[in-house]
Amino acid sequence: MGILHRISGPVVEAKEMTGAKMNDLVKIGAQGLTGEIIKIVGDTATIQVYEETSGLKPGEPVETTGEPLSVELAPGLLTSIYDGIQRPLNLLVEKGGNFITRGLSVNSIDRVKKWDFVPVAKNGAKVKIGDLLGTVQETEVINHKIMAPVEGTLTNLRAGKFTVVEPYCEINGKPVQMLQRWFVRKSRPVAEKFDPNIPLITGQRIVDMFFPIAKGGTVCIPGPFGSGKTVTQHQFAKWSDTQIVVYVGCGERGNEMTEVLTEFPHLEDPHTKKPLMMRTVLIANTSNMPVAAREASIYTAVTIAEYYRDMGYDVALMADSTSRWAEAMREIGGRLEEMPGEEGYPAYLGRRLAEFYERAGRVQCLGSDNRTGSVTIIGAVSPPGGDINEPVSQNTLRVTKVFLALDASLAQRRHFPAFNWLRSYSLYTDSLDAYYTNSISSDWVEIRKEAMALLQKESELQEIVQLVGPDALPEKEQAILLCTKMIREDYLQQSAFHEVDTYSSMRKEYLLLKNIMRFYHRAIAAVDLGIQLKKITDMPIRERIARSKEIPEEKIKEIEFMGNEVDRAFDALGKQ
Ligand SMILES: Nc1ncnc2c1ncn2[C@@H]1O[C@H](COP(=O)(O)OP(=O)(O)OP(=O)(O)O)[C@@H](O)[C@H]1O
Ligand SMILES: [Mg+2]
Repeated sequence: MGILHRISGPVVEAKEMTGAKMNDLVKIGAQGLTGEIIKIVGDTATIQVYEETSGLKPGEPVETTGEPLSVELAPGLLTSIYDGIQRPLNLLVEKGGNFITRGLSVNSIDRVKKWDFVPVAKNGAKVKIGDLLGTVQETEVINHKIMAPVEGTLTNLRAGKFTVVEPYCEINGKPVQMLQRWFVRKSRPVAEKFDPNIPLITGQRIVDMFFPIAKGGTVCIPGPFGSGKTVTQHQFAKWSDTQIVVYVGCGERGNEMTEVLTEFPHLEDPHTKKPLMMRTVLIANTSNMPVAAREASIYTAVTIAEYYRDMGYDVALMADSTSRWAEAMREIGGRLEEMPGEEGYPAYLGRRLAEFYERAGRVQCLGSDNRTGSVTIIGAVSPPGGDINEPVSQNTLRVTKVFLALDASLAQRRHFPAFNWLRSYSLYTDSLDAYYTNSISSDWVEIRKEAMALLQKESELQEIVQLVGPDALPEKEQAILLCTKMIREDYLQQSAFHEVDTYSSMRKEYLLLKNIMRFYHRAIAAVDLGIQLKKITDMPIRERIARSKEIPEEKIKEIEFMGNEVDRAFDALGKQ
């Protein structure tokens, strides 16, 4: 038992903490506030406190639990809304009235609810950690796999209704419950990490076509205020081909509850037409919560993501935004009297970001049945003033493989999604090319490269246009500008709120761009033959191409045939 002797906002110091270990959880003061040891010198421990510290006095007792910060894992996670240290927000509010009472200890997962457990393994078997023992239908849409927490001989495995703390089997004679506790600051072991050669299909054309994300990949979405970070994260949550979503939201302004609490629970899963929450775990940091809980929230989230990954699911982990997380680190770091790094962030900011993103991956899970699962991490960054020359953006860019640069000027012009196509990049394109070639079309890569080259050419031409005006350009170059405008407006622009346009299948993504590129080739050939650009500009087929993104998937054949229509239209033009 130690004694509190210094309090500095969310960071406190306790003496006589002999025996306490780094990262141990502690209970502080008469109220038993929860904190975590983040520094030890001699018998003095520095502790970050997950709850408001006002009212604490020197001399109050501090007790270590001997255990590091961990999360509870069991059926019941999905549909939950937690704070940064996995306290269910609804229970906190219920127990404590309208505001969160301190020192409350609440279970992260319901201990009373009974789940229908269906055994899969056989009694008498020798099981290894991660082996599938049985399943529980957690929500209408997700089957929860119950995995062996230890190795040994399996006995007394039985079907029935169990709470998460009732034994449903024994391993080496010891009763086993569904509820597991995993430490949050350490990544979970896996059997093998795979190369990033399968795409995470988002249904967002600019992403899938030009800046693809791999399953198990890492993505950074920096964006100034109001440029589309949240809409993008919601689109990915709804549409990407993952089964589980773990979403960390941070409050931005004043005391208001984060939009995550007001918006996310109402999102509908387009695949099942049920609430998206049925396959989501939500972690909400409201801005009035202590910074230490916000610091922990990222680890809580990624550990929950790893848990579902280990069941063999593809998990998308969204953090909106990691800048708020880094600011929490900065505030805590500032109290430690350590030498600050750039812009006051702690010197370990880069390492922390790297460690977080390294927990992404597509893996073979532990266990004997060759399950494959993935955690893809998509972090929004909100650089102050939108300038990414700041430590959080720069350190994130160093470790993430996809950079989706949201652009304020595009957003102002209502070009959505407002990703700047010249500044964004994906380092996965090469490793995913084989997938597209084999499963969509042999010319996917060629079309992508050609279209991107045109967009780059456009920016060069626009510089000239600014100097001398469009009419000074040769017709051929004006034809290029006509086609790049089509790429921008008819392809890259995609409304998240349009019933059909909100999602494109990969086949549709391919066909839409292919038609525009077919138009481009025919247009250039026509100009070469001396056909006036005006005639090309006025072709009705252009309008048809522009509207084809609104053709629903069931009528995709119409988009397929449009390529021939382009040819016929140009053939006719040549004969005039
Ligand atoms: N893909 C999209 N399709 C249509 N509209 C969009 C799209 N993306 C963003 N918008 C528009 O831009 C607005 C702002 O987007 P959003 O709230 O996602 O920005 P943000 O970057 O999260 O802002 P903040 O910095 O305030 O968190 C949306 O309300 C919407 O009108
Ligand atoms: Mg936002």
